[in-house]
Amino acid sequence: MTSKQFINAILSEQQSDGSLPVLEGTLGPRAVDIQTLYARHGLLAFDPGFRSTAACKSAITFVDGDQGVLLYRGYPIEELAERSNFVEVAYLLMHGDLPSPAQRKEFDQAIGVHNLLHEQVLAFYRGFRRDAHPMAVMVGVVGALSAFYHDVIDMRNPGDRGKAAIRLIAKMPTIAAACFTYSIGRPNRYPDNGLDFSSNFLQMMFGVPSEPYRVDPVLARALEVIMILHADHEQNASTSTVRLAASSGANPFACIAAGIASLWGPAHGGANEAVLHMLAEIGTVENIPKAMARAKDKNDPFRLMGFGHRVYKSFDPRARVVQAQAKKVLSHLGIDDPLLNIAMRLEEIALKDEYFIERKLYPNVDFYSGILLRAMGFPLNMFTAVFALARTAGWVSHWLELQHDAHGIDRPRQLYVGPALRHYPPRS
Ligand code: CMC
Repeated sequence: MTSKQFINAILSEQQSDGSLPVLEGTLGPRAVDIQTLYARHGLLAFDPGFRSTAACKSAITFVDGDQGVLLYRGYPIEELAERSNFVEVAYLLMHGDLPSPAQRKEFDQAIGVHNLLHEQVLAFYRGFRRDAHPMAVMVGVVGALSAFYHDVIDMRNPGDRGKAAIRLIAKMPTIAAACFTYSIGRPNRYPDNGLDFSSNFLQMMFGVPSEPYRVDPVLARALEVIMILHADHEQNASTSTVRLAASSGANPFACIAAGIASLWGPAHGGANEAVLHMLAEIGTVENIPKAMARAKDKNDPFRLMGFGHRVYKSFDPRARVVQAQAKKVLSHLGIDDPLLNIAMRLEEIALKDEYFIERKLYPNVDFYSGILLRAMGFPLNMFTAVFALARTAGWVSHWLELQHDAHGIDRPRQLYVGPALRHYPPRS
């Protein structure tokens, strides 16, 4: 069958008896339901990078990459970044609606109850080299939580599932901050339930047990904004990893550890760290043309980190918000960061360059978030850990959503291109 005949077969079948239905979402492109394709035609769909595949139905987040739109449960990211806060956004992602004052109070209290780590968990840190990358430690420690919360979770019980989700959101800042304090040999600070989520994370990161820590409200708000922007992004690599792991019924803490592993890569959450390495490598504004030439050279693996996105082909709405925050924080702190000047000039040059225009490559959220985090005092290797603690809100929301999806285990097929059947040779 030629591909044309194949498409015609799908369309005629869809039209005649609806056996390959076209599904309508609330927003975005329609999808042909090909679940019975193999059974009916003996054919598989081949889409290795999932460029044309909707792997699931989801009601959490919507991205329109052509228009630069990002909605959490219908609310535009710009409005949430300006008017909401991370805990409220986490509630929204998990539950589908903004909380009432009473629901918000209950949610805050639950986070306050669950933000401590079992003291035995802290012992795990000592097993890591102190110069280990925080993401390596996060994968290990979050995975290890499954050893603490396994038999106590009844996956059929919505109350238990909700508690696991809250435990993950609540403990993640404590886990991430401990990665940092362990690496520099500083004693941990415990969470302070008198503070909001971001302020609490800042005091655990940068405070010492011997002195009170004064939270800078401008930095706390900037961190809230970063976390809101990173809280979810529909079926990205790490969220898909969480969903795939969860489809087998695996322990939620183990599923989130899998998501953290996937996020770590420089093509995904590791890009914020990679951007700063790249800007430092470029070094001066005069070296930008050389970097541009390398980014366009197909024989050179160098890419402009923080540029391009699988889905956004006009602009990443998060990038504008984070750029504004970066400028605000730098001016508040009186920092003149030469890397910001390189970043702004690089953006200007790339946006006028034919190669980038043709391929619709625009700055993504990570282009400026590293500069912002650096100004706030976060060490480079903690950038992706901050992303992970924000994205936990999205991961657990997808994990919860998946529990209502009756499609069973995720099990992709493949186009086998290995040797055909052959027989083991006789041995003398
Ligand atoms: N620099 C130079 N060329 C690029 C870049 C870049 N950053 N991104 C894409 N291209 C080129 C690519 O070489 C290809 O060229 P051609 O058509 O000539 O072969 C074309 O643009 C299309 O790229 P692609 O690789 O098909 O795009 P993709 O959708 O597979 O990859 C991406 C998306 C984000 C992995 C990629 O753009 C990239 O590696 N960017 C740098 C890393 C980065 O900033 N990642 C953070 C993503 S946002 C945060 C998150 O959601 O995790």
